[in-house]
Amino acid sequence: MRPFPSPSGRVVVAPSVLSADFADLKRCLAPLRRLAGWMHFDVMDGHFVPNLSFGPGLLPAVAEASGLPVDAHLMVERPAMFVEPFAKAGASLITVHAEAEGAAACVSKIRKLGLKAGVSLKPKTPASKLAPFIGKVDLVLIMTVEPGFGGQSFMADMLPKVYEARYRISRGGRPAWLQVDGGINEATAAPCAAAGADSLVMGSALFRAPDPAALLRRLARSL
Ligand code: DX5
Ligand code: ZN
Repeated sequence: MRPFPSPSGRVVVAPSVLSADFADLKRCLAPLRRLAGWMHFDVMDGHFVPNLSFGPGLLPAVAEASGLPVDAHLMVERPAMFVEPFAKAGASLITVHAEAEGAAACVSKIRKLGLKAGVSLKPKTPASKLAPFIGKVDLVLIMTVEPGFGGQSFMADMLPKVYEARYRISRGGRPAWLQVDGGINEATAAPCAAAGADSLVMGSALFRAPDPAALLRRLARSL
């Protein structure tokens, strides 16, 4: 397991594996090594979201091909059964949804295993649901699309929630990344960063770009 970075005031991109070329992870991910903060690994169970993705079996290949720490975003109804398998597979941080069964107990379990923990909110869940998690998590993820699929449009009406989440983190006494996920591209990145986000998940906009590394360099200059 690679050490997960602490928030530094810098805005970093977490490329989403969901949009990468699974058949050639090395070619796809290796050029991003020095430009991305870490890799984002979307796990879907067909219950919590209406889609399936991949499980812990693929994670070591992503870590190896990218040379980066991996954050596992568990979009699953019962995250407790997956915490240990993802820890064993080498995830550096595991994010569970506040709406999922036993989310608070999962955060404790993740931390006991020596990993960083995150909590995520779906678009319809208010920022007040972060209250029991602030001070205990290392990352707060605000979904800016309905979770389940890459390539959807950014929901600009989530920006006030991003701002409120940053305020809650700043009052919570424990530094935490504020991540946004869904529809992030060169146009939507700036308002998210202005609202307090310092971790931008990027899937389709990054991997469909003619030169993903150049896109990350441009973002690093502009944010
Ligand atoms: C959606 C996932 C995202 C997805 C983002 O449920 O959580 O991480 O990969 O993809 P884009 O950047 O294409 O919206
Ligand atoms: Zn995600």
